[in-house]
Amino acid sequence: MDLIVARNRTDLVKARGGGSLALVPTMGALHEGHRSLIREARVRAEQVVVSIFVNPLQFAPNEDFSRYPRTFDADLEACQAEGVDVVLAPSAEDMYPPGSQVSVRSGEMGAVVEGACRPGHFDGVLTVVLKLFNLVQPDVAVFGQKDAQQLAMIRRMVADLDLPIDIVGAPTVREPDGLALSSRNRYLSAAEREVALTLSRALRAGAAEFAPSRIRAAATAVLEGSEVALDYLALVDPATFAEVGDTYQGEAVLAVAGTVGATRLIDNVVINLEPRVYA
Ligand code: PAJ
Repeated sequence: MDLIVARNRTDLVKARGGGSLALVPTMGALHEGHRSLIREARVRAEQVVVSIFVNPLQFAPNEDFSRYPRTFDADLEACQAEGVDVVLAPSAEDMYPPGSQVSVRSGEMGAVVEGACRPGHFDGVLTVVLKLFNLVQPDVAVFGQKDAQQLAMIRRMVADLDLPIDIVGAPTVREPDGLALSSRNRYLSAAEREVALTLSRALRAGAAEFAPSRIRAAATAVLEGSEVALDYLALVDPATFAEVGDTYQGEAVLAVAGTVGATRLIDNVVINLEPRVYA
């Protein structure tokens, strides 16, 4: 079937099939990471909707909203190649008509780690994601582990607001040398790309350790002296994004964010902090 481009709710209703539906929300500039989410969505539902919307609400005035990459034609080709049924590409005017004022508050969890660096960011993310959920009414929605706090916040919203949607997290897709794929990687010069590799290298160094204090120290040692302007390195509970202590057991997320040149990048790995038995 041919790909349908929907601009609004009326178009969506016309394109709706009868079976289960999976939504993959994106801001476009699609890469292999987004495509892996689409493939995950395909196996989860009969119909797949990909939304492409650069959401002004989640960018602060000093951030890259106006220069965020927009590659709509290539995105449509990628969606067609992945067998997407519907691309939802609304205008900002349709999403936020004059007079809009009610929004989602992300709470305490939206104000830590990434939220501490980007005040208001998660309010903007949750507001647009809730709107997309209400427009598309999916059974399943797929998000990347690459944005671990975003994924955790969406799970929190679904629980707190009783949304009948199954949230699926998909693993981070990386370049062979470890760099996590990101729409913002295209801003990097060759030299900056080398510097950017420090982030995934630091995460790998941390993941080779077994206790929180040693994990933080190993990752910090890699970042120190690099040209990354570090925003944070945090070892947190994946559900709450609260920092974990040395007695913590279970999965933890080691998350890092920093700026390379003019480009802000984030990355994370999941580390299993199971109790170890020593002979
Ligand atoms: P965007 O940055 O376009 O990302 C869309 C989805 O792709 C997110 O779920 C993100 O985690 C996932 N993704 C990005 N890079 C990935 C990678 N290397 N591997 C796997 N998945 C990856 O995240 C957003 O857009 C927006 O905040 C959005 C949720 C669409 C709300 O505006």
